[in-house]
Amino acid sequence: MFYLVLPRIGRLLCWFLLPSIMLSVALMLHAGPPPATDLPAAGLPPVDSTKAAQPKAALVFAFQTNLGYCRQWLATNDFKSLGQSVTALSVLTDALGRNVAESGQEKITSLHHAVDELVAAAKAADAGRAQQAIDALPKAIEAVETAPGLDHPRPATKTVASFTPLMHLIDGTFTDAKAALATGDVTAAKTYAVVLVELAQWLAADRAGAVWQSQAGDLAAAAQDVASSTAIDPKLLRTQFHDVYACCAACHQRQR
Ligand code: HEC
Repeated sequence: MFYLVLPRIGRLLCWFLLPSIMLSVALMLHAGPPPATDLPAAGLPPVDSTKAAQPKAALVFAFQTNLGYCRQWLATNDFKSLGQSVTALSVLTDALGRNVAESGQEKITSLHHAVDELVAAAKAADAGRAQQAIDALPKAIEAVETAPGLDHPRPATKTVASFTPLMHLIDGTFTDAKAALATGDVTAAKTYAVVLVELAQWLAADRAGAVWQSQAGDLAAAAQDVASSTAIDPKLLRTQFHDVYACCAACHQRQR
């Protein structure tokens, strides 16, 4: 009896454990966000999981996620990683700027100042100053969240933060989406896909050239497919995320 059951248990273990072990290893190898201990509950916009969030709400959500990473880096006094994570906040502030109406632009300016203060504190490796800067950010991002949005955002330009921080944020957002999917949080995964659509516009604006434009456009289109997918099954969405990754790989192959 036992020897009949045991191999089955072994096979079951393979099916259930291997994917999760592989995922954990993949997450560990990824140098972006710190380990997800004690992640502060980011305010997920209340969206129907069959519908995509609005870009502004999605960007605010990603801002809160990355602010959570900043908090964790500061908690371990890792100023180098804090400095990297805070550049994600700069890129997201740029992206929010193009989605906020003229009457809300002073709130974008205040958010930029608040982020710059954290950049400076990280550079100076000043824990007290960094803590103060981090504590000031929730209020600044809330102000932007309630500012009037735009139905037709302004065109994206080159990010102030430059290419590498933009690419790190694209990479981190893709990882956040997959991690959300792994826990079955379809709404969060779609919300990150909306952020990827937005970031692809910034990627397109970063360089001239027809090939670059079309490859950034492919990424935007693939992410848009996920964002507007009516699927609520994480497995289905995972397949769509593979298509997004194919766009990442296609461009990287071309650039090398
Ligand atoms: C339109 C082109 C393009 C697309 C699309 C693109 N990338 Fe990149 N990516 C680059 C270039 C260029 C570099 C820098 C040179 C290189 O390493 O190939 C880069 C570098 C990277 C790096 C290394 C960053 C470092 O530390 O130097 C990562 C990670 C990355 N990309 C992830 C992604 C992910 C994930 C996606 C898709 C969600 C993506 N990229 C989509 C062009 C692109």
